[in-house]
Amino acid sequence: MRHPFIAGNWKMHKTVHEAVVYVKEFRSLVKDIEDVEIVLAPTFTAIHACAEAARNSKVGIAGQNLHWEKQGAFTGEIGAPMVREAGADYVLIGHSERRQYFGETDQSVNRKLGAALGAGLIAIVCVGETLDERERNQTLAVLDRQIKDGFDGITGDQIAGLVVAYEPVWAIGTGRTATSALAQEVHAHIRQRLRQWFGAPAADQCHVIYGGSVKPENTKELLAQPDVDGALVGGASLDIKNFFEIVNRSRG
Ligand code: PGA
Repeated sequence: MRHPFIAGNWKMHKTVHEAVVYVKEFRSLVKDIEDVEIVLAPTFTAIHACAEAARNSKVGIAGQNLHWEKQGAFTGEIGAPMVREAGADYVLIGHSERRQYFGETDQSVNRKLGAALGAGLIAIVCVGETLDERERNQTLAVLDRQIKDGFDGITGDQIAGLVVAYEPVWAIGTGRTATSALAQEVHAHIRQRLRQWFGAPAADQCHVIYGGSVKPENTKELLAQPDVDGALVGGASLDIKNFFEIVNRSRG
């Protein structure tokens, strides 16, 4: 049985001070919640302070990106061991904003995933189609490519421990959520491909979560779908009450 996995992606929001204030309050709000895996992804500069503030709590900390090399002459980049050492246990990889604005591809996702796994980070790998791809009926083909190329060379055991976030690009930050039926259909497809390519244990244990305008009002219905194992929340995670409500409503 997969417990719900709820992650907040703060993107380029919150100063170190704001982030720490949030984490300190949030950890006490969720202190009795045993059945949900809860993660927050602050900016790089706030990872260490957030990890300290979240120590011995129910809240895990994620990086939003990393570089595939451990170290080297890559100005402005951060290696997986550095993200880990700063205190993150998780990392987002291949978010659509990274693909759209920073030229990330399935090949760079694959290299980053290898680096994350090598550093002992739990990867949250983002996939999803653009509006144009959906309108041209390419959704499932795009997802197949993103999974096949993004997960190339990754073992079933490794897949079992990671998180796939299905985020239709047209639903991110737009207020347009996929219907729960549409999300279920795509999630079931992703799980079926994981089963086919990486085996049943990988497909059964891997969390496949949904992202794109998740808010308290649509959490229950999305999470009620058998193949929707959680949510990656952008905008609504910036507000502590909204994010707590989402965590709360993800439970049974
Ligand atoms: P949103 O973002 O919840 O603001 O739509 C989701 C994401 O980009 O992870």
